[in-house]
Amino acid sequence: MRKPIIAGNWKMNNTVAGTKQLLSELLPLVGDVTETEVVVCVPFTDIATAAAMTAGTNVKVGAQNVAWADKGAFTGEISADMLKEAGAEYVIIGHSERRQYFGETDESVNKRTVQALKNGLKPIVCVGETLAEREGGITEEVLCRQLEGGFSGIASEQMAQIVVAYEPVWAIGTGKTATSAQAEETIAYIRGKLAAMFGKKTADAVRIQYGGSMNPSNAKELMAQPDIDGGLIGGASLKAPDFTAVVKYNG
Ligand code: PGA
Repeated sequence: MRKPIIAGNWKMNNTVAGTKQLLSELLPLVGDVTETEVVVCVPFTDIATAAAMTAGTNVKVGAQNVAWADKGAFTGEISADMLKEAGAEYVIIGHSERRQYFGETDESVNKRTVQALKNGLKPIVCVGETLAEREGGITEEVLCRQLEGGFSGIASEQMAQIVVAYEPVWAIGTGKTATSAQAEETIAYIRGKLAAMFGKKTADAVRIQYGGSMNPSNAKELMAQPDIDGGLIGGASLKAPDFTAVVKYNG
């Protein structure tokens, strides 16, 4: 059985003061949820605050990127041990915004994923096609390349610890969600591809999230799909009642 995992991706929102405010609203609502794993992936500067506030609750803290090197001359990067010491347990890797604006490639995603695993951080690795790629009928080809590149050299035991987030780029922040049937079909394809790469047992253990305009009104239907194990939530994670409604998708 795969435990559902709902993660908020705060992106570049909330200063420390904003983090204190949002978590003080959110924790009384979701802090004791046990049937679903709840994660908030916050900006680097908010990790320590979020870790201190969530201590003793069931909410976990994640970062939104990690350097592939241990330390050294990498201006602007943050290392895995810095994240861990600050209190992060998860880390988002290869979000489409990083691929689009900051030159992230399948190769850099792979190096960051290897580094996260080596340091005991749990990666949430994002994959997904653009609108042009979907309309051009090459969604599977794109996902295949992202999965083969992103998970190159990773052992099956390590793969089982990775969360994959399928985020169709055209659905992110647009209010345009993939239909539950579209999301299920694509996520089932991803699971099949993981089975071909790592074996069926591993593929059956990997949790795969849907991301892209997931919100209180569509969460239940998406989560009811057999291959969808969670959500990576952007906009709706910034409002405590909305994020809570997604976390408690079963009502
Ligand atoms: P969204 O973002 O929920 O605002 O579409 C999801 C994401 O980018 O992770």
